[in-house]
Amino acid sequence: MMLEPFHAHEPHQAPDDDFLDAVLHGLSLPKKSIPSRFLYDARGSDLFERITRVPEYYPTRTEIGLLTARAAEIGAALPSGAVVVEFGSGSSRKTELLLAALDRPCAYVPIDISAAALYPAARRIEQGFPDVGVYPVLGGFHDLARMRLPLGDSPLIGFFPGSTIGNFARQEAVDFLLSARRLLGPGAAFLLGADLQKPLNILLPAYNDADGVTAAFNINLLARINRDLEGTFDLDAFEHAAIYNERYHRIEMHLRSLARQSASVAGRSFFFAAGETIHTENSHKYTPERFGRLAQDGGWEVSRAFYDENRLFSVNLLA
Ligand code: AVJ
Repeated sequence: MMLEPFHAHEPHQAPDDDFLDAVLHGLSLPKKSIPSRFLYDARGSDLFERITRVPEYYPTRTEIGLLTARAAEIGAALPSGAVVVEFGSGSSRKTELLLAALDRPCAYVPIDISAAALYPAARRIEQGFPDVGVYPVLGGFHDLARMRLPLGDSPLIGFFPGSTIGNFARQEAVDFLLSARRLLGPGAAFLLGADLQKPLNILLPAYNDADGVTAAFNINLLARINRDLEGTFDLDAFEHAAIYNERYHRIEMHLRSLARQSASVAGRSFFFAAGETIHTENSHKYTPERFGRLAQDGGWEVSRAFYDENRLFSVNLLA
């Protein structure tokens, strides 16, 4: 291993600093939209953690159930002495399950856009797995292609749980898979969670929970704009909306304007018709076939897939 433990280093990638440009651009489009990565400031990451615990949100507990129940098979299919590189590590809760399933993992590289989520989680893993070197990277995935990890010659395992891949548009997902392949190098394995297509009576409540945690998560984007970009959004004048787009097989989150109104960002004014929305997130839902084609287009092959008994979620081993 060529890296030193993380507390010896400054983060070696700058956090997302293009929030202002992205918001000004996104609000100028005929269909307003803001990239979903901006949902994850400290409060957003915290709210997302709460979403994973609401009863309607099945993905997290289903994936954790799979990683637990199939740990022996997953561990046996992956190399010994490996480095685990996790994309969008957040709280690293699932990582503990993977590290425990692996034979003598040597290092863990969590990559996340939220410092508030990244560093405490990295520290927790370091304490729980004293034999695993922990090297956090603060950053998003949009510049993955430029990233270099000086990791020596240990086998690499990419880890991308949570169906975060579903937040990308199809071409973005393909580009992400291609950059991950370049970053991880030939011979790497990639363990990837993918949410499955299912009836709307399960899907819609998962993004419209009764306690309003998902709504608060979505609305928090406007609070973040107000705080960080001199925004003047009236938080009570927008509502959370999560709908299923049948054509693209995805849940879409929007912020819907409840009235004709204007709001400004960094001194620039934007008009909203009543009912007009800002599109804030996509969450694609896959069939095994569609996911297999996506993996292939991204330069990978699904070598094994694990499903829960209700076929809600899949954990896929890519080679
Ligand atoms: C980031 C993929 C785990 O799309 O289900 C949850 C984000 N947004 N509720 C998802 C999210 C609203 C989540 N993932």
